[in-house]
Amino acid sequence: MDPITNPYTPGAGAPPPELAGRDDLLRLVDIATQRIRAGRQAKSVLMIGLRGVGKTVLLDRMRDNAEAAGLHTLRIEAPEGRSLPAILAPQLRQALLRLSRFEKARDLGRRALSALAGFAKALKVKYEDIEVGIDFDPEPGLADNGDLEHDLQALLEAAGRAAKAADTALILFVDEMQYVEEEQLASLITALHRCAQQQVPVMLVGAGLPQLPGQTGRAKSYAERLFDFPFVGPLDDAAARDALEVPVRGLGVAYEPAATQRILDATKGYPYFLQEWGKHAWDVAETSPITSRDVETASVEATAALDESFFRVRFDRMTPSERRYLRAMAELGPGPHRSGDIATVLDRKVTALGPTRNQLISKGMIWSPSHGDTAFTVPMFDEFMCRIMPGDEWRTN
Ligand SMILES: Nc1ncnc2c1ncn2[C@@H]1O[C@H](COP(=O)(O)OP(=O)(O)O)[C@@H](O)[C@H]1O
Ligand SMILES: [Mg+2]
Repeated sequence: MDPITNPYTPGAGAPPPELAGRDDLLRLVDIATQRIRAGRQAKSVLMIGLRGVGKTVLLDRMRDNAEAAGLHTLRIEAPEGRSLPAILAPQLRQALLRLSRFEKARDLGRRALSALAGFAKALKVKYEDIEVGIDFDPEPGLADNGDLEHDLQALLEAAGRAAKAADTALILFVDEMQYVEEEQLASLITALHRCAQQQVPVMLVGAGLPQLPGQTGRAKSYAERLFDFPFVGPLDDAAARDALEVPVRGLGVAYEPAATQRILDATKGYPYFLQEWGKHAWDVAETSPITSRDVETASVEATAALDESFFRVRFDRMTPSERRYLRAMAELGPGPHRSGDIATVLDRKVTALGPTRNQLISKGMIWSPSHGDTAFTVPMFDEFMCRIMPGDEWRTN
């Protein structure tokens, strides 16, 4: 069928034509943000899930909903190798400038911008990557200690007070939170805790890989009381069907039941894979309905496309020893696997492999579901590793 009208959208962060199966999560965040705005207590939300389950598109949708409901938001992604204050400061500045336009929030908005000026100036020594425009002079003693834990508290509190004056709330949307360094994560948690105690309307909606709850717990032991950690998994059969079929229905296209089933089996309900399979099934099919035979052909193409994008971008960032470690895991199947078993495949000692394993964890490739266990953060990565490093040569090279 015509590739120009193909509705599917495989791609990191690409909004799907139908955001299927996430109504409960959207509602959870909707209620929490509205409660915060009304001056009531609500936990911040950290969505946890593997790569490609739809965390980023959920964050974006939640942000749109929050904005539509009159909340003030900012959206950042914690990248590898940059500090949280550096990423946060410019976005916070914009949010504060927007808030300051409200007559009621003008004075407190300006005060928060002064806090931001002090914050940036004092922390510039430690976090050299902070670059933010200064609108008002710093106020001596306001968020300018030079200590992140203290200054972030003061800054978010000042920002929250401005939001409150405008009868709204400030919601921080933060993606890829597993990359925030522990000390910075601890400061963020403390600041949110402080806002909650002071009933200042600031809330976090974050997303990250499954290691995030452990990281927050290590950063601050009380984090688990402050956050909800909803798990974002693959779609169940009904939702996966919707993800596939709803986008084409309006275009007069249908799937044979066996064709849909075949895609559900191949993708196991993972949203990224559903988009990729849908896209190729559409392109392969001559006419509606899309048949099981079409899907058979599409499967080969969808797999090749994933190998060249979704899987490949991760693989390319790995060193040779990291690749070998991942390949050894793949040899054992989807996982999780015991560190000892992986070491046995590589004929090495567990301790000798420790640094490689830690590197893979900090790159967000693997995580540890429980002590001594190791699992992939990318669904079906084991099968990809066997395709990209076939045979036995990897053992000796
Ligand atoms: N609920 C959903 N229904 C259908 N497709 C989805 C859904 N959530 C995500 N997708 C699709 O899955 C892909 C990955 O989404 P993304 O948000 O980047 O995942 P993550 O951030 O968890 O890695 C995108 O192509 C997106 O369109
Ligand atoms: Mg993402």
